[in-house]
Amino acid sequence: MRLLSQTLCLCLALALSQAAPSRYDLMMADHYVNHHHPLLKDDHAHHGAKLDRCEGIEFDAITPDEKGNVFFFKGDHLWKGYSGPAELANTYFKELDEHHHLGHVDAAFRMHYADDPTHHDHIFFFLDDHVFSYYNHILEEGYPKKIQEVFPGIPDHLDAAVECPKGECSVDSVIFFKENKVYHYDIATKTVKEKVWSHLPNCTSAYRWLERHYCFHGHNFTRFHPITGTVVGVYPKDARNYFMRCADHGHGHGDSDKERCKDAKLDAITSDEEGKMYAFSGKVYTRLDTHRDGWHAFSIASVWKEVESDVDAVFSYDQKMYLIKGDQVYIYKSAVHYTLIEGYPKSLKEELGIEGPVNAAFVCGHQPTVHIIKGSNMLDVDLSATPRRVLVESPLPFSKIDASMCGPTGLKVFVGSEYYEFGSPVLMSSSRIRPSPHKIPLEILGCGH
Ligand SMILES: *[C@@H]1O[C@H](CO)[C@@H](O)[C@H](O)[C@H]1NC(C)=O
Ligand SMILES: *[C@@H]1O[C@H](CO)[C@@H](O)[C@H](O)[C@H]1NC(C)=O
Repeated sequence: MRLLSQTLCLCLALALSQAAPSRYDLMMADHYVNHHHPLLKDDHAHHGAKLDRCEGIEFDAITPDEKGNVFFFKGDHLWKGYSGPAELANTYFKELDEHHHLGHVDAAFRMHYADDPTHHDHIFFFLDDHVFSYYNHILEEGYPKKIQEVFPGIPDHLDAAVECPKGECSVDSVIFFKENKVYHYDIATKTVKEKVWSHLPNCTSAYRWLERHYCFHGHNFTRFHPITGTVVGVYPKDARNYFMRCADHGHGHGDSDKERCKDAKLDAITSDEEGKMYAFSGKVYTRLDTHRDGWHAFSIASVWKEVESDVDAVFSYDQKMYLIKGDQVYIYKSAVHYTLIEGYPKSLKEELGIEGPVNAAFVCGHQPTVHIIKGSNMLDVDLSATPRRVLVESPLPFSKIDASMCGPTGLKVFVGSEYYEFGSPVLMSSSRIRPSPHKIPLEILGCGH
């Protein structure tokens, strides 16, 4: 449960760090343009201004960094995140330009290799026959090196590369692409399996996002199975509808999304046994796997189709997710896919011994107690006893709570656009004064990228 605690403490703070480039980042970019390339200033500024990813760009490389910021590379420029202007790549990765006059990056990936902290979460860049390893945007000592030295058996002048952690590939691996050839590289043994996936377009960049693997080609992308290369679903799709924010393109980010985000609030929030967090708002849920990946929004119906939207409360217990809507409880088995357990939904009365509707719910750690918030009261129900009944009922210092969740750092209670923190459920119910509120990061609501 280490992961759980780490993720929970980090969640809110890190959600903030997922935003598009900050003013500081942009200042740094200006600094570079003005001071490091005095002669090239106009040239670079114009070149950068001309690069508009909404016009449809074929990226050279795409990779997240160790904090989950994703970088899209084209020529000597990059974009950070899904919105914002092109910036010089050497603003973030200085030495790429110093060692090579940076024409472009051939390929890049972030390594997943938890067994070896000296490589885990490092970003590797490939330029011609050289490889650069970065952590925290600092070039590792001894780099750049020859690709052959670090990744024996992998060719020079690559097209694309992407991480493939154990579980998605059979062992922690990297998938390299060159022309129509694919190289599965086993990180531990340094063995290479070469394949030809002729059904897949030649990828110019590749990206892993929430356990899914994407090949980018032109301004399109195609999702593929990382072991077999199989393409399932309707592809290619236009990257501008998914991996960036463009005015004329959109997939849940158009006007209806703006409308939703105007006064969005959370309906419900929980974290599962693995520490993945799920926040529900209207028809949308956002998911935070780890701080490496940031929050991402999807439709509720795509995962919990029986519930579809407007969840009142959610909690996770014993490898299951309980979604409460109206006076019904839907229990899903948590696995790669959520499956509704047979016989559900059932009424709240039958399942938990209370009358709906309710506002929020949470379980702390492995305790077999669910705390249900209904109006300004908290009802504690013992999940280990049958039939279920309310053990304790306590008044709360809130008239209405939208959502709540509990973790090792305590309890978070979400009301409107703010949230409050308490050390424990008892501390909340016994508190006479509210602690000072925090703003809910917009990323949790799937807004504000
Ligand atoms: C992919 O690469 C192969 C090998 O270089 C080449 O023959 C083929 O034309 C390429 N396909 C596309 C669509 O560019
Ligand atoms: C992108 O995909 C669309 C189909 O979704 C296809 O019509 C178009 O030709 C593709 N464009 C490129 C540049 O690959």
